[in-house]
Amino acid sequence: MSATPVTPAPRRDAAAPHAVAGEWHRSRPPWGDGFEALLRQDPELGGLLLGEAERQADGLQLIAAENFTSPAVLAALGSPLANKYAEGYPGARHHGGCELVDLTERIATDRAKALFGAEHANVQPHSGSAAVLAAYVALLRPGDTVLAMGLPHGGHLTHGSPANFSGRWFDFVGYGVRRDTGLIDYDDVRALAREHRPKAVVCGSISYSRHPDYAAFRDIADELGAYLIADAAHPIGLIAGGAAPSPVPYADVVCATTHKVLRGPRGGLILCNAELAGRVDRAVFPFTQGGAQMHTVAAKAVAFGEAATPAFTAYAHQVVANARALAAALAAEGLTVTTGGTDTHMMTVDVSRLALDAATARGRLAAAGITLDTCGLPYGVGPTAHGLRLGTAAVTTQGMGEAEMVRIVRLMATALREGVTEQGLRGVRSEVRELVSSFPVYPA
Ligand SMILES: Cc1ncc(COP(=O)(O)O)c(C=O)c1O
Repeated sequence: MSATPVTPAPRRDAAAPHAVAGEWHRSRPPWGDGFEALLRQDPELGGLLLGEAERQADGLQLIAAENFTSPAVLAALGSPLANKYAEGYPGARHHGGCELVDLTERIATDRAKALFGAEHANVQPHSGSAAVLAAYVALLRPGDTVLAMGLPHGGHLTHGSPANFSGRWFDFVGYGVRRDTGLIDYDDVRALAREHRPKAVVCGSISYSRHPDYAAFRDIADELGAYLIADAAHPIGLIAGGAAPSPVPYADVVCATTHKVLRGPRGGLILCNAELAGRVDRAVFPFTQGGAQMHTVAAKAVAFGEAATPAFTAYAHQVVANARALAAALAAEGLTVTTGGTDTHMMTVDVSRLALDAATARGRLAAAGITLDTCGLPYGVGPTAHGLRLGTAAVTTQGMGEAEMVRIVRLMATALREGVTEQGLRGVRSEVRELVSSFPVYPA
């Protein structure tokens, strides 16, 4: 099964680094008046929403899958498009009054196609998981064998977890990373493919910090006549900004999220060639979803528009430069960085050399105002996790650069080593506050 080659999106010149966040960085967030009304009507809930806005602004957000969206994206999410029912696709809806949302969805799909150089885009999946589900539905039958990254090595729940539809409906075989390098062993992937003859090969991960070799995956899939599905949920924003290679010319179907580095609303996206377009569209609606969420589709269109600007290209490259600086500084502090560094926005680190488990480490960092995830590490021993996963998408949106990454690591190291004492923690907490207050996301 060979993919129809498509023209890659034209590369744009990177803008000056100070422009990474774009103009919106200096505009006011859309809550204000709307929140006043919400607070009056429902103080309990309004208070929670305001509290969450404050929490996000008051600490360092290092969760690799999170980012800060622009006020324009938030405005689209909070628009009257949230009121509209729109089952079906533009020009073929089951509901009346869809003229304007049809135009909205056409803009979103056209922008996604242009941004990623894809022949077809479906912008309706409600989430990354919904996009993967639709890809499986489009290409597979229940019971088919699928080769994907094993969950202990960084596969997502949708890559064969027994707790997920994928593990229940398909027969998953997991490939992994090498013990010595932490890198995908393509000879092993090929050997597993020859042994199990999967109907589809999936590449993509929740924690792999290096670029997948899409050409190698394509070659392995072609040898068996298998489909290649790229789950690019994590790197899709870097791909949009020209800071990571694109799977579009190689994969039959590319699934993605729109809310990570891409900086759009929470949601999913599917890209494919023209030949598979009908199967993918029918797999999304009516097979796995009902009405499209048009406010989210509009917000995706806004985000795709933003991602096509030179400011976003600069942002995506700065995200990677920041991640490399962060990884190098963490290694200098004695933490083991999986694969020895990163090519992307994220990395995983082993905290066991500090005689800490992951939950204790996350707790100390949280107390200091630094938010990140714990994670399992490939070849981790025993039931206790020792991995932390962190990324630079959000702090880069705030306008931070390599110097701030070094400062963040110094704060993390202090919190991890001295976080046991109240006084030590208080010192780090106030320095975190000082740092983030110099880089406000949504200035008042
Ligand atoms: C590789 C991968 N696939 C799929 C998903 C699912 O995305 P969602 O949480 O939007 O369902 C994620 C989420 O982080 C992911 O990392």
